[in-house]
Amino acid sequence: METEQCHKYLLDKLKAEQILSKEEIIQLLTDVSDQDREYAAKLARKAREPYYGKDIYTRGLIEFTNYCRNDCYYCGIRKSNDKAVRYRLTKQEIEACADAGFRLGFRTFVLQGGEDAYFTAERIADLVLTLKQKYPECAVTLSVGEQSYETYRMWREAGADRYLLRHETADVCHYRKLHPQKQSLTRRKKCLFALKELGYQVGSGFMVGSFGQTFQCLAEDLFFLKELSPQMIGIGPFIPHRDTPFGRMEAGSVELTLFLLSVLRLMFPKVLLPATTALGTLHPRGRELGILAGANVVMPNLSPVGVRDKYELYNNKICTGEEAAECRNCLELRMEAIGYRIVQDRGDAK
Ligand code: SAM
Ligand code: FES
Repeated sequence: METEQCHKYLLDKLKAEQILSKEEIIQLLTDVSDQDREYAAKLARKAREPYYGKDIYTRGLIEFTNYCRNDCYYCGIRKSNDKAVRYRLTKQEIEACADAGFRLGFRTFVLQGGEDAYFTAERIADLVLTLKQKYPECAVTLSVGEQSYETYRMWREAGADRYLLRHETADVCHYRKLHPQKQSLTRRKKCLFALKELGYQVGSGFMVGSFGQTFQCLAEDLFFLKELSPQMIGIGPFIPHRDTPFGRMEAGSVELTLFLLSVLRLMFPKVLLPATTALGTLHPRGRELGILAGANVVMPNLSPVGVRDKYELYNNKICTGEEAAECRNCLELRMEAIGYRIVQDRGDAK
């Protein structure tokens, strides 16, 4: 079969069956043309339509600490980066971010940070409780890495609805290239299954184009996601940060990220799929292209402008100078320009 026909055949098969073999996934990811990408995006938009129409959900991201005990080689806020200027938001500051977000129409707050010992299980439970009491109609999402089952349980009981924990890579050898010995893929996967068991809506995912990633790794990622069956999947291109061991590496490909978004939409028609800030950082219309490739969520920043540039996972991150309201309006206009609309909704998975 001609390469292009082969891609079309595999995409049609994926749409019909929502799964391919690993060999077929590798074939699908090899030698993708612009035409293949367009075809995949068209199928992906069609697959999303019955569940989400033209609606785009927003999540207000509150990056509340950039202290972290981990040392992921790719991450700008890793423990060993002594050039990172560290900060923690106070409870009052976090509440103020949520208050401003609520007024702007956000109905999901995402509390994201490094694994910071200051924020004990009890402190985070208190934050969740406070936000849920104040805004019972809103969803609270946590994204603070690997924790014990008991901690996850405490946060769930405090009212946390969702948890974002990218698996990063499902391939053990690839995982080793990205993380020091102390960190383990087995533990990360165990956390994800614990979160599911506790009734969280779970988000997982991976970076595209991280050091050592092959199509084989990506096929493993897609298979792992099938096994986990998360409600949300976050993918974005790897972008280097100058003060990390990966500082001189090339960024991931925008085109491959967009194609993978379409592939994910075909594999998981109902999944919540963000067009990430990383995508918007590498391409001026990255988030719009992400939506047109099948994504249905955007995650603007609600963190105070004074700390935005300190939550620097990678260099040149966009939207570090804008107030929350500016980001909200900017995204609304961007979505409208491509025929989509931001809705005021918790945005639970269908
Ligand atoms: N500590 C939490 C955790 O580990 O899940 C949440 C914060 S962590 C910084 C959030 C995500 O940022 C990671 O899962 C990773 O995929 C992404 N990330 C980190 N460094 C990145 C980089 N250089 N380029 C793109 N994404 C990156
Ligand atoms: Fe902990 Fe990146 S190394 S958030």
